[in-house]
Amino acid sequence: MATRWQGQCADCGEWNTLVEEAPQTVFSSKHDLSSGGRPIVFTPLDAPGELPVRRASGLAEFDRALGGGLVPGSAILMGGDPGIGKSTLLLQVSAHIASSGGTAVYVSGEEAAGQVRLRAERLGLSKAPILMASATSVRDILTTLGNMDTPSLLVIDSIQTMHSDQIEGAPGTVSQVRGCAFELIRYAKENGVTLILVGHVTKDGNIAGPRVLEHMVDVVMSFEGERSHQYRILRSLKNRFGPVDEIGVFAMEGAGLAEVGNPSMLFLSGREEPMAGSAVFPAMEGTRPVLIEIQALIVRLQSGATPRRAVVGWDNGRMAMLLAVLEARCGLNFSSAEVYLNVAGGYRLSDPAADLAVAAALVSALGDKPLSSNAVWFGEVSLAGEIRPVAHSAIRQRESAKLGFAKAFGPSSAAEQDPGGEGGKGLAFTGLGMLPNLVDRILSDA
Ligand code: TYD
Ligand code: MG
Repeated sequence: MATRWQGQCADCGEWNTLVEEAPQTVFSSKHDLSSGGRPIVFTPLDAPGELPVRRASGLAEFDRALGGGLVPGSAILMGGDPGIGKSTLLLQVSAHIASSGGTAVYVSGEEAAGQVRLRAERLGLSKAPILMASATSVRDILTTLGNMDTPSLLVIDSIQTMHSDQIEGAPGTVSQVRGCAFELIRYAKENGVTLILVGHVTKDGNIAGPRVLEHMVDVVMSFEGERSHQYRILRSLKNRFGPVDEIGVFAMEGAGLAEVGNPSMLFLSGREEPMAGSAVFPAMEGTRPVLIEIQALIVRLQSGATPRRAVVGWDNGRMAMLLAVLEARCGLNFSSAEVYLNVAGGYRLSDPAADLAVAAALVSALGDKPLSSNAVWFGEVSLAGEIRPVAHSAIRQRESAKLGFAKAFGPSSAAEQDPGGEGGKGLAFTGLGMLPNLVDRILSDA
């Protein structure tokens, strides 16, 4: 910056690159905003007039994760690891909208039109009347959209590939991502279009680019799963129009993503012989129960090397805590053993009620005693070794009974909450007060 005319820039040495800028208004200390504005209009919350109507996407699992369909004039940011299936999912959503009377615009900044068409062919969607383009200039995109009928859905795949000639910097830089998102969101709000922005995810799992992107949009979703597994989970992390605890479950198949309407059996491996170290946990995902197999493996070390602890699909710190409680309260010894814990099917557990099932798997692995293959385990474990009550115990038991399990173990209070066993008909419930009860039961061939 310079305060007078200069031919050469003092910083970079280039000639004729300095431009004149008007001086900024200097506010006096008494600057006053209490006059000169236009009046704003207050609206009662129950004012007559139409509320925006959600549009079903045609994929029930997608709508479920959104809290009931697409809201016109809203902006959705979808993150997820590369190759997890974001483009596939959004092409399928666009096709559904386009084939059911809406207009869907799908703009890819990552793939050439030919590549998108190849994918559409693979998905059997070549005939869907999607308006598809390969473009990266936000000015071109908004100019084109301004000269046609307003679409119902606009997909931008991805926001990191977009650029605006109004903003300096390469595509993907913070100012470009923020500026492009701002313009696209403004277009969506002014025209009642549902906008879906695909966002890249950095190595540590955050959506790349400015955090502020998450504040600018109405909904933040994440598409998760292990690439080597078939199942994908769509979660909303922020939702201005609905709950954030519902998930959508899909399976990646040869011809795209198939909806999994009843996911409760997915995460059970094909179990025939009871195996030591395997316990079934009736987890809750939003309002839906999902039965998940937890596997533990314990390897005794001969030498004095530091034993490894590895956890896939659960919290590391939580496992360390459970091991400590099992040692301190139940007298078990894991100190010279390697401990591995795995949640089947590439699932990530966040339900705190998993403690008891993990403890059961660990004790079973340690004692090499298989657990009964028709039992489920749920409950939170405290540092004192108590098995604490958890939410939704009736639903957990009902689902377990429905899937053919005969026994459930959980916090003692769960039996009282559900007198007469309304929840799980045909399911024998056993309340376990303290963790040593669990250990005795498993190690003494219950
Ligand atoms: P893609 O939607 O390109 O992922 P993203 O946009 O999140 O990067 O999905 C890519 C993966 O999905 C690819 O590895 C192949 C797999 N896939 C299938 O298994 N079946 C299909 O029908 C399609 C289209 C993709
Ligand atoms: Mg993609």
